[in-house]
Amino acid sequence: MTTLATEAQTHSSAPDPAQAGSQPEDPKPDHPKPDHPKPEVREGAFGNARALSCRECGHEVELGPQYACPECFGPLEVTYDFPAVTRAQIEAGPPNIWRYQALLPVPDDITESPNTEPGFTRLLKADNLARELGLSALWVKDDSTNPTNSFKDRVVACALSAARELGAKVFACPSTGNLANAVAAAGARAGIPTVVFIPADLERPKQINSAVYTDRLVAVNGTYDDVNRLASEIAGEEEGWAFVNVNVRPFYAEGSKTLGYEIAEQLGWRLPDQIVIPVASGSQLTKVDKALRELVTLGLVEDKPYRIFGAQATGCSPVATAYKAGVDAIRPVKPDTIAKSLAIGNPADGVYVLDICRRTGGAVEDVGDDEVRAGILLLARTEGIFTETAGGTTVACLKKLVESGRLDPALETVVINTGMGLKTLDAVADSVGPAATIDPSYAAFTATGLA
Ligand SMILES: Cc1ncc(COP(=O)(O)O)c(C=O)c1O
Ligand SMILES: [Zn+2]
Repeated sequence: MTTLATEAQTHSSAPDPAQAGSQPEDPKPDHPKPDHPKPEVREGAFGNARALSCRECGHEVELGPQYACPECFGPLEVTYDFPAVTRAQIEAGPPNIWRYQALLPVPDDITESPNTEPGFTRLLKADNLARELGLSALWVKDDSTNPTNSFKDRVVACALSAARELGAKVFACPSTGNLANAVAAAGARAGIPTVVFIPADLERPKQINSAVYTDRLVAVNGTYDDVNRLASEIAGEEEGWAFVNVNVRPFYAEGSKTLGYEIAEQLGWRLPDQIVIPVASGSQLTKVDKALRELVTLGLVEDKPYRIFGAQATGCSPVATAYKAGVDAIRPVKPDTIAKSLAIGNPADGVYVLDICRRTGGAVEDVGDDEVRAGILLLARTEGIFTETAGGTTVACLKKLVESGRLDPALETVVINTGMGLKTLDAVADSVGPAATIDPSYAAFTATGLA
């Protein structure tokens, strides 16, 4: 078992030509590597998880705060020895992500520790939007109703469990906004100090939604990719810091599987035909795919083909660009879009997103900022759901994919709304408002023509 801090030294994000000069590529040669003691981990700390396995070479290492393969620097992910799991067992569990405890790297007494208990959000039949887009069957998985109003509560709940089991003293993250909100809230509830790092130009509501929970919100002059590099450096220096998406990333990432489990369970234990998912780092999309495959392997759903589609904003679309060019390598970009939650120019899981979308017969699409705004309004006015820019991106990509014929309108489709519109009010503030401002009289109202 390694310490929470040391493995962050192996961080190996690809060099980013778009940002050259803003941060050193290997930031930290002046500081000696601290020698941190190994944390003691109790029996069953990670549930049925067996090891961390390299996605590139398959090499396995002990469960702990590592994210890069010691052999090839490929990303590590959690593998399991699953016991037999039944639908009835899951259905008897709590109405949150812990109903899937047996499928996550968390202990079987997870519900006894304070956490934000996210998940089991509504799956809404979206008939109005389906009609508008000419689809036969459409569902919205609405993750805006999680405790801090995004899907990030799911990943943070799993990272918090790992941090706790590893004896972390500080809970931290670099974030495009929603993750910072989720980390700050979960840390407050768990009684663990939090430090969250964000790009300084982030939307004000997202800053406030972190700062209410923690007095250690750090705004960094730079892009998310700069913030991420800084976080990796700090993770290497500070003993006992669990950076949810850096040194405990494999545990964090598993939380997104619960979106896939819930969609299948809420459809009556079956797989949808098509799913549209927003892509920033790409972690969520890859884990939804992993979840669906696990459900098949465990015999919880019948096997059948499904297609996964990724959604990006054109101003930060390195994965869609690679997809459309038919290449495997992803060229980092400098983001310029109103979809700030998706503004990761150097996506850690981008190549796996490409692989999944190609393998399943899906695609990766992108839309401009005007389409993002229109997507927000379309979902609001057809289904009464106010999404943030990430959801606007996803709905607009859904529309574009239908129009281009890449998404089959005859097949059952699920679109994931990952966040809440109240956090990105500015995106639509100039597009909507009072239809009229009147004196309080019936005559004034009828004069507007709105009666
Ligand atoms: C609302 C929202 N949706 C989607 C994403 C993309 O998640 P991932 O980085 O797992 O691709 C993010 C990431 O911050 C987000 O905040
Ligand atoms: Zn490897």
